[in-house]
Amino acid sequence: MNKPWIFTLLRRSLAAWPCLLTLCKSESALNLFMWSPHWQCFVWNQNDCKGEVEKALETFFPAFDIDFAALVELADSNYTTPDGWSSNQSHCGHDLVNLVFNTNKWRMATSPGSYIAGCMVPNDRPFIVQLFESNSGGEPVIVAGAHFPHPDSSTLHSEDSLEYKATANTGPLRDAIAYIKDSSGVNKVIVIADTNAWTWVPTSTIMEMLQIPSGTWVSTSLERSCCFDADFPPEYAFDRIMANFGGSMHTTMLYEDGLPVWANQTKGQSRGAFHKPIVGRLYERPSAAPTNPNPLNVFLLVSTTVLATLLVSLIVAWLCCARCRGSHSDRRDMPTSDPESD
Ligand SMILES: *[C@@H]1O[C@H](CO)[C@@H](O)[C@H](O)[C@H]1NC(C)=O
Ligand SMILES: *[C@@H]1O[C@H](CO)[C@@H](O)[C@H](O)[C@H]1NC(C)=O
Ligand SMILES: *[C@@H]1O[C@H](CO)[C@@H](O)[C@H](O)[C@H]1NC(C)=O
Repeated sequence: MNKPWIFTLLRRSLAAWPCLLTLCKSESALNLFMWSPHWQCFVWNQNDCKGEVEKALETFFPAFDIDFAALVELADSNYTTPDGWSSNQSHCGHDLVNLVFNTNKWRMATSPGSYIAGCMVPNDRPFIVQLFESNSGGEPVIVAGAHFPHPDSSTLHSEDSLEYKATANTGPLRDAIAYIKDSSGVNKVIVIADTNAWTWVPTSTIMEMLQIPSGTWVSTSLERSCCFDADFPPEYAFDRIMANFGGSMHTTMLYEDGLPVWANQTKGQSRGAFHKPIVGRLYERPSAAPTNPNPLNVFLLVSTTVLATLLVSLIVAWLCCARCRGSHSDRRDMPTSDPESD
């Protein structure tokens, strides 16, 4: 009989499917978010800027399926995150940082040495460093949200990193990250911050200053996210999302084509320093560019589909025939209860 042969072939072609299906599977990414709407939006609150920012966050978090976000100078003590997200806040003087996380995917680790909040300069420039555990069995990750102080800008156009290195005051954040890294043994670190770093300060320099263990450093691209009061000059690439793991980061700056009217906070000669939000998608693979399907894979996928369909039809037909023949012979072998034979 040819039954075992056909089943072996069918089993083999079915076994190839999971492998082929991974070609179509969408790739997992961590979705990260940085935004400093700046205090004028909340204190001056012209055009209901406060309400509009909070409404925008209500949209952005689910729309980008945000895992972690740092919100800087969200100066509303009554702010609550949308359902599905939670936030921890740190403040130094009037300055605020909220570290937001997706509660469906992550939880704050509670063991000692999992959390430090502090100030990068006395009574100003807050940061939070928190160890997060995955709700789905993934690896834990350390996330820092921070508002760096302004480095000395007296040599603003020297276009090297020396002044930044000397004056950016990253020590307290560096020590907090080191402490949580050492007490947890976790090496994966994400930093989401208004770094106040000009375009000529590469993100790798900031990672070195923070002494974040190197693996692959990835970062959002240097965007003109700051600020309304400075007319978003090309060198103000302040808002950055960086990590020491993953293969690539894809950057989206929101409001790229122009600011909404409510973001304009103007009082005489003074203007609010509203920043544009940055979304970073951290991918495992090196290039986040969509890959073109490999013709060989497409051929394999199509041919196994055709082959599998053919085989299934063959087997169904074969089973039907066997059954038909079986029932015919059954009838023949059955003791006849022909009334005429009685
Ligand atoms: C927060 O809400 C309370 C109660 O509604 C209100 O009295 C207070 O002014 C609010 N604070 C801010 C900063 O909006
Ligand atoms: C932030 O998290 C820490 C550590 O779990 C906790 O002690 C603190 O009360 C939290 N603060 C806020 C404002 O939620
Ligand atoms: C912002 O608003 C002020 C006054 O309300 C107006 O004069 C100014 O042109 C606006 N700026 C922008 C960029 O829209």
